[in-house]
Amino acid sequence: MLFASGGFRVKLYDIEQQQVTNALENIRKEMTFLEQSGSLKGSLGAQDQLSLISGCLNIQEAVEGALHIQECVPENLELKKKIFAQLDQIIDDQVVLSSSTSCLLPSQLFAGLAHVQQCLVAHPVNPPYYVPLVELVPHPETASATVDRTHALMRKIGQSPVRVLKEMDGFVLNRLQYAVISEAWRLVEEGIVSPSDLDLVMSDGLGMRYAFIGPLETMHLNAEGMLSYCDRYSEGMKHVLKTFGPIPEFSGATVEKVNQAMCLKVPADPEHLAARRRWRDECLQRLAQLKRQMPSQ
Ligand SMILES: NC(=O)c1ccc[n+]([C@@H]2O[C@H](COP(=O)([O-])OP(=O)(O)OC[C@H]3O[C@@H](n4cnc5c(N)ncnc54)[C@H](O)[C@@H]3O)[C@@H](O)[C@H]2O)c1
Repeated sequence: MLFASGGFRVKLYDIEQQQVTNALENIRKEMTFLEQSGSLKGSLGAQDQLSLISGCLNIQEAVEGALHIQECVPENLELKKKIFAQLDQIIDDQVVLSSSTSCLLPSQLFAGLAHVQQCLVAHPVNPPYYVPLVELVPHPETASATVDRTHALMRKIGQSPVRVLKEMDGFVLNRLQYAVISEAWRLVEEGIVSPSDLDLVMSDGLGMRYAFIGPLETMHLNAEGMLSYCDRYSEGMKHVLKTFGPIPEFSGATVEKVNQAMCLKVPADPEHLAARRRWRDECLQRLAQLKRQMPSQ
């Protein structure tokens, strides 16, 4: 949907016909809804965007003449390596070969490929239509032109790419996310705060700012600039940071406590979870509208 919104022709390739059929049907419904609610991205109408997307079950046909390949098979290193080895045999020297992987490192994914200079990870965030960040992570041998082209392409389709300069487990987004999850877990485990209040601290506190400015700019604005912030608060921060505990186990009594609190709010059956995800996506859609109305500069 995002590539089509930028006016690009898109071929969806899968080994399961039903997946392609369902995807095309869901995209048709989603684009019609987005157009009606005034949230469709890009300058083309829904019908024109839909006509750019087709499905196929033949990998050769899927990549023929492509500028960019976005691999999205399940998160399994051996499977991904198999697909990249297959693609390595059939692609030309121009196309960018990009993986959506959330966790696998480029050095594992692209090792030994003849076209390694054209390969990188472009990690989107769910749901990518409303959350525009894409982490671009190169293999040590990836050509800088590959990263530049992908950066430009992501900008063109309205995404917000960032360059991860060196590969690292968890890239950047998940490292930040896991740091937050880990301290959240410890605070609940130690009985400092209830699970539902913990979530409120983020959704009604930190998260309000973080939708617009990051942690570093927050420091800069919360004093008379960054130097003044570090001068005033570094000792206090270090004092608190020294009290952080070890990596949680995410098991036992705490998982039961957190699960109970979450299920009280959103029962963990498919209907309730799906309804809550729809609500979340609607919130994100409206937030995305607000962010468009509030230019960052
Ligand atoms: N879902 C997310 O929130 C999210 C966010 C960011 C990144 N990712 C990454 O995107 C990738 C896909 O995740 P997902 O949740 O969409 O997975 P998924 O299991 O929902 O979809 C994977 C698709 O790949 C197809 N497939 C399986 N084997 C194949 C093969 N050999 N050739 C072609 N197609 C094949 C399946 O039929 C299925 O349609 C993963 O690497 C994941 O880490 C997912």
